[in-house]
Amino acid sequence: MLDPHAIAAEAVAVLGDIEDPAILEDVKARYLGKAGSLTELMKQLGKLDAAERPSAGAKINEAKQQVEAALNAQRDKIANRELEKKLSAEALDVTLPGRGLHTGGLHPVSRTLNRITDLFHSIGFDVADGPEIESDHYNFTALNIPANHPARAMHDTFYVGTNDVLRTHTSPMQVRYLESHSLPVKVIVPGRVYRCDSDMTHTPMFHQVEGLWVAENVTFAGLKGVLVDFMRQFFEQEELRARFRPSFFPFTEPSAEMDIGCVSCGGAGCRVCSGTGWLEVLGCGMVHPNVLEPLGIDTEKYIGFAFGLGVERLAMLRYGVNDLRLFFENDLRFLAQFR
Ligand code: DAH
Repeated sequence: MLDPHAIAAEAVAVLGDIEDPAILEDVKARYLGKAGSLTELMKQLGKLDAAERPSAGAKINEAKQQVEAALNAQRDKIANRELEKKLSAEALDVTLPGRGLHTGGLHPVSRTLNRITDLFHSIGFDVADGPEIESDHYNFTALNIPANHPARAMHDTFYVGTNDVLRTHTSPMQVRYLESHSLPVKVIVPGRVYRCDSDMTHTPMFHQVEGLWVAENVTFAGLKGVLVDFMRQFFEQEELRARFRPSFFPFTEPSAEMDIGCVSCGGAGCRVCSGTGWLEVLGCGMVHPNVLEPLGIDTEKYIGFAFGLGVERLAMLRYGVNDLRLFFENDLRFLAQFR
């Protein structure tokens, strides 16, 4: 009978070189399978003398255990090698620079609106909003702009059906707000407005902020104080100069336009201010009795001021943007500068 230990030694040597799990199983069959050499030895035990059988059997079992141990060790070795291969293939280089997070941000017009709103809110103005589809009545008639008034032609109105318009300004909210609140009122109304106009300096939709303060002791001096203070804080220029020029709006009397010293050149004259040193920034005035009286307001007791400013205009001046259309193209390379 063959020496089981010799067979085991041979098997252990063969197993040590195997890398392929399938070949490993073949080799296992060759020694331990049904027709494997150690199995065959087992079968031959019966032919031995009864006295030799126990020790021969024990030797074969030892040999089988050696082969099994070598088999298991090699199986583990192959598995570990596979795992290592996989790990190194999937390795992360933690020293590579990160990709960076692309955070969103507020649109410069929204930022400007928030800034304006915060400043007025901080001096006691409430904030309201109103409908963008507005009736002819609120947009014009109630603001002392009757049918056929020439001011209507200046508004480049988008009509919605026969009676409604896309509001051409936020001023109709003066009337709506007075109708639904008791006096005194002190409110600003930020919002979108629409005009049928489109070029370098006009877009069909833009933003305004309306202001209205109606109480017993409102004065034109108060109006000037509020607006000059606002502009100085908005542009962060304590010494910012301002002037009020007589103007005309149907819903205010007297009416004025406010200019500020050019925030770009400081007044010397440049392209932004067309060489004048001044920038026109808003319209304002004392609320016309023809607006208040139809609302049942006693104009002997109450008096108000109002103003309306263009948000894109202030945003352009504050950020040094020279083309209004940049705000509406929404090119991310432009917008990302305002985060
Ligand atoms: N609504 C005017 C416009 O869009 C701006 C304006 C002027 C508003 C004078 C006012 C004001 O409240 O008093 O052109």
